[in-house]
Amino acid sequence: MRLLLPLLLVLPALAARQPVRAREAMVVSREAHATDAGLAVLKSGGNAVDAAVAVGFALAVTHPSAGNLGGGGFLLARFADGRATFLDFRERAPRAATRGMYLDSAGRPTRDSRAGYRAAGVPGTVRGLELAHRKYGRKAWSGLLAPAVALARDGFPVTFALARSLRGHCAVFDEFPDSKRIFLKDGLYWSPGDTLVQADLARTLERIQRDGSKDFYEGETARLLTADMQTNGGLITLEDLKDYAVVEREPLAGAYRGFGILTAPPPSSGGIGLLQMLGVLEGTGYEKPGAGSAAALHMLAEAMRRYFADRSEHLGDPDFARIPVSGLLSKSYIEALRRSIDPERATPSLQVRPGRFAPAESSETTHYTIADREGNVVAVTYTLNGGFGAGVTAAGLGFLLNNEMDDFTVKPGEPNMYGVVQGEFNAIQPRKHPLSSMTPTIVLRDGRFYLALGSPGGPTIINTVLQVLVNVLDFRMNVREAVEWPRIHHQWLPDTLQMEKGFSPDTVALLRARGHRVRTVESQGEVAAILSDGGWLQGAADSRTEGTARGY
Ligand code: DON
Repeated sequence: MRLLLPLLLVLPALAARQPVRAREAMVVSREAHATDAGLAVLKSGGNAVDAAVAVGFALAVTHPSAGNLGGGGFLLARFADGRATFLDFRERAPRAATRGMYLDSAGRPTRDSRAGYRAAGVPGTVRGLELAHRKYGRKAWSGLLAPAVALARDGFPVTFALARSLRGHCAVFDEFPDSKRIFLKDGLYWSPGDTLVQADLARTLERIQRDGSKDFYEGETARLLTADMQTNGGLITLEDLKDYAVVEREPLAGAYRGFGILTAPPPSSGGIGLLQMLGVLEGTGYEKPGAGSAAALHMLAEAMRRYFADRSEHLGDPDFARIPVSGLLSKSYIEALRRSIDPERATPSLQVRPGRFAPAESSETTHYTIADREGNVVAVTYTLNGGFGAGVTAAGLGFLLNNEMDDFTVKPGEPNMYGVVQGEFNAIQPRKHPLSSMTPTIVLRDGRFYLALGSPGGPTIINTVLQVLVNVLDFRMNVREAVEWPRIHHQWLPDTLQMEKGFSPDTVALLRARGHRVRTVESQGEVAAILSDGGWLQGAADSRTEGTARGY
């Protein structure tokens, strides 16, 4: 005892916020049952992709506001052998979609892009998870769906946050009979601790467990879904479903301060934004005044403002428009952006225009991150778009439909659900992917996995990922601190600097004095991150919500 005591005294104190640490493998997701389902797969010899499939289906049951069968998303994977891939299972516009489909006779946007049957794009999740499994998984498919089936069939306890979010969406559920029956407990509110059983969803999942995506896109589920669409004026047909294909893309690759970065290519606007903003910041010394200082926040906000101006014009589905990726990320353009920033004054957004590029050389959501013992890492962001998507539960099928069509440019210059203004490249066209902001990202150090992360939050996603990343790389925070730290968001238009609660009033005043119009918000994003360092995995789930990080 006499020997130990002095030793203990010299150990540095642990910072107040600690990540969850594990040696072998880790799952970080928004909901505990889903996290456990993934962890069980990893413990029984499955790899990170197997676990991602199990978590994806489990979240479709336990986190119905965003976890889904009726939505879409992106899966970024980096394997121990250095290969990397990006599966784009984003929704697509139905064949019958038209450019002006959400405008009334006076040319005004209607509510149809946000709620009801017509808001839904052709879902991609089931085919996306199946392709991930077929190409990169190793465990039996049916076992990976087993936890989801059990959670739907036997039920699970409603948490405080779930009860609250279900209540918050009662008005839209009330419009659609199956949503009302299931998510409104037949017209009553669910309370924390109640057991939520989803029998229809359990049957749908059992069919997918047995027949794979064939059931969803061509079988019984497809038949029931399209019949329901037809009865209710929806556009999705059997042909649309049959036709849905996942696109495997090269991850967008870049570098920052010697770290490698793998991130989301178009149809996400996230990766390009992340790399452009990091490029603008690199070498400026913006971090020197310290995390949370008005000077550093100002530089971040100015980089954000400039990227979102570009986003409004140059981003869309790469299968339909030529995205000037290399122009947006070119050294000279990034330098010009950097030079245009006044370190002391906010540039009014109306003075910031999207860049001009030569014709190009030849976008409630949830994120989860998984690392396995072999060194493979998977980052998945998938979504119904708004919380509970279009609010519609497909009749007899138990799953909610997305309202991803609202991510298209409904009308140029008109803000969408997230207030972003978008352009021609993102106009509605049959079979096109709406532009996304989802930004699953993996950072490499010396060619090895260092940090993987992502978040929901519409356009704020890009800026959330940026800030967690610089919190680790520039401000030297541990991953948990980096995730917990308050965040800001600027998206060019409206010309407003959104700041989470938690910044000092003095800092806010300094930013106002620089010319920023500040708006305070309760919360921005829900990050799920894993960092690998010194033989340890460090997981951080966002305490803004009920996320969980567990490993072994
Ligand atoms: O793909 C996108 O950018 C949006 N549909 C994401 C929506 C979202 O993150 C909502 N979450 N809070």
